[in-house]
Amino acid sequence: MSEAIPDLRSHPRAEAYGIIARDAGAILEGVTDDVAAMSTIAALIHHSLGFLWTGFYRVVAPGLLQVGPYQGSLGCIEIEFGRGVCGTAARDRKTVIVEDVEKFPGHISCDSRSRSEIVVPVINGKGELIAVLDVDADVTGAFSADDKAGLEKIVEWFKVK
Ligand code: SME
Repeated sequence: MSEAIPDLRSHPRAEAYGIIARDAGAILEGVTDDVAAMSTIAALIHHSLGFLWTGFYRVVAPGLLQVGPYQGSLGCIEIEFGRGVCGTAARDRKTVIVEDVEKFPGHISCDSRSRSEIVVPVINGKGELIAVLDVDADVTGAFSADDKAGLEKIVEWFKVK
């Protein structure tokens, strides 16, 4: 856990994400840069909830994701739309929850400790997909509808900034 970031692991997830969204909003007051916001949001989520990997893959060309601001072990550099969990969420513009990565065909393993994951599309104010937010955990079944709702709310920053 990082000193300045509260430890929210004992809070119900819905509540924890509410606190993270509030803190992110306060820290990012007056900020418009997406990379600054992605860096801040990744750090807040990762350190307050103790995940294995938390970060963004940005859309850098049609049909191509490239790793962006993240916290955790090394992420893969490029992912094409339609590949893995990130590419699937990007292609369909829909949140994907994977309870057990071993049962997701085409899962891209950047860290062998990853057991479950959630990937949330990030849409800007023009309705364009600009990135996906990927959160990985070292236990199976770490993510539920509460994580989906909480993370989708957090990435609304990029729509309303
Ligand atoms: N597991 C992801 C790749 C990204 S990393 O886990 C950081 C996927 O299947 O899209």
